[in-house]
Amino acid sequence: MQGRVQLSNRFFLNCVSPVIPVIWTGSCKLRPGAAGARVEIDAVANAPLPSPRRGGWIAPREPSLPQPRRFWIRTFGCQMNVHDSEKVENLLHHAGYEAATDPSVADLLILNTCSIRAKAEHKLYSDLGALRSWKAQVAGRVIGVGGCVAQQQGDAILDRFDQVDFVFGTHNLRRVPALADAALSGQRAARTNASASLDRFDLPERHPDLRSATPGRAFLTVMEGCDRFCSFCIVPTTRGREISRPASGILDEARRLAEGGACEITLLGQTVNAYGRHDLRRGKAEARGTMPFAELLANLDALPGLERIRYTSPHPIFFDDDLVRAHGELASLCPHVHLPLQSGSDRILQAMRRGYTADEYRAIAAALRAARPDLAISSDLIVAFPGETEADFDATLAVVEDVGFADSFCFKYSPRPGTQAAERAERVPEAEAQARLERLQALQARLRLAGHRARVGETTEILVEGPSRRGGRQLRGRDPSHRLVNLADGSGLRPGDLARVRIVEATPHSLIGEALGRGAACAPRGKLHDGVKAGPGPADALRGAEPSGGQPVGATG
Ligand code: 5AD
Ligand code: SF4
Repeated sequence: MQGRVQLSNRFFLNCVSPVIPVIWTGSCKLRPGAAGARVEIDAVANAPLPSPRRGGWIAPREPSLPQPRRFWIRTFGCQMNVHDSEKVENLLHHAGYEAATDPSVADLLILNTCSIRAKAEHKLYSDLGALRSWKAQVAGRVIGVGGCVAQQQGDAILDRFDQVDFVFGTHNLRRVPALADAALSGQRAARTNASASLDRFDLPERHPDLRSATPGRAFLTVMEGCDRFCSFCIVPTTRGREISRPASGILDEARRLAEGGACEITLLGQTVNAYGRHDLRRGKAEARGTMPFAELLANLDALPGLERIRYTSPHPIFFDDDLVRAHGELASLCPHVHLPLQSGSDRILQAMRRGYTADEYRAIAAALRAARPDLAISSDLIVAFPGETEADFDATLAVVEDVGFADSFCFKYSPRPGTQAAERAERVPEAEAQARLERLQALQARLRLAGHRARVGETTEILVEGPSRRGGRQLRGRDPSHRLVNLADGSGLRPGDLARVRIVEATPHSLIGEALGRGAACAPRGKLHDGVKAGPGPADALRGAEPSGGQPVGATG
């Protein structure tokens, strides 16, 4: 039997013919609303339809009624992961899914995972255990796992966890809607093939329903992957080789973000200031449409509407004179650099394969401060790397003190299977590692508070993010140096506003300010201001080791 159908909703892979509902069992490349698809009818279903999970049928819960499926995304790890979740969210909106207001009303739950340290990976496994009951509560619910753990483990996750329906790797975000569609119709699959193609940057426009985690602020990917292979780090395995996106796409996206109401963008990349370097070295920058990172920043600075530009995370060895100079010249480039040090011991830096010495790091910090005297520097630090002695650790404390980090993320070394350092036998005993971590954190806390106290009386400008964790009518926001400022009385201000504030008090984790009025106009209020999330939203970030203020850790570097 043959017939013509009108596709009603490709996500259920069902179609409505003029006379009878048609259940489509093959893969379906057509879009909802596409009329006149010719189909071959090869079986006739008697009610009730077979269960979508068991039989060969692909059946919706309500066969002929299109019903939007609702998703919830839980994100672990760095800002790159947070942004990947936004990309997935956007793709799902384009595919007709809706964001759930809460996991309890979601049909599809996606975990975007992190494997940078063992703790993050274990959190995934315990969450997956707990999600069994979430799944059992409503028939037809599905779970997808993406991100770095997914990239590494692929379909082993499907074998190990029968509650997981699909797995997608870090290069396979565009496949999520198809994987979700298939999962909702009972098919389990993993897609984790690494790709060297620029296709992954080719994503649809921001969907009107995509809500902004922080109004007025947006992430923008400029490069991905890492070729450095630091001996402790799993990222080159999970994120693949360095690849830079053509500048035209970056500038177009930045322009659109600004038009949509973003006044602050954060450029993302695993080694963000390595942007374009391979193309330049091979003489292919023009052909591939890339340029030196400092030039990209200058082009972004020239765009109207962008008040603030940030980037994370740079690698110390990719700071050239032009990039240092840019910090003194570009008005919109924020006076803050998150510059991972990892260790202050030359011996350990060498064992980590970082490519610089402690004094070279100090010199970069000094050059940046010479170009921009008010520049705040924050960092990532690892204690108890294999073989780290008390003297090595003291050398780390010395650099932290000399450079005077405004803040830092401090981690205990965590062996990652497959990395060079994981093979090393000289482990620092756990009690010693913990004691070093606490000493480092205490030093950082002292420096942070001293930095905060020095700012009392200053006037600055914050981008209002939302309600303060301190409760009441307080609002929180970040100043250009990325310090968290709580406003005792935020009356008249809304998330996404730029506000002039006077710092009136210093606390260990934030500054307290009083509002003086609105700051520079933050572009016309557009999509990036609408639908502000109250509390965690569908791309709920599960934050790990945080410096003050609860920002997800920078995107490596
Ligand atoms: N153990 C502990 N910390 C690590 N990081 C990366 N790999 C490890 C590891 N194996 C830290 C680094 C990096 C940050 C994102 O995470 O400090 O900059
Ligand atoms: Fe690359 Fe940064 Fe990991 Fe080193 S620490 S391998 S530079 S992502």
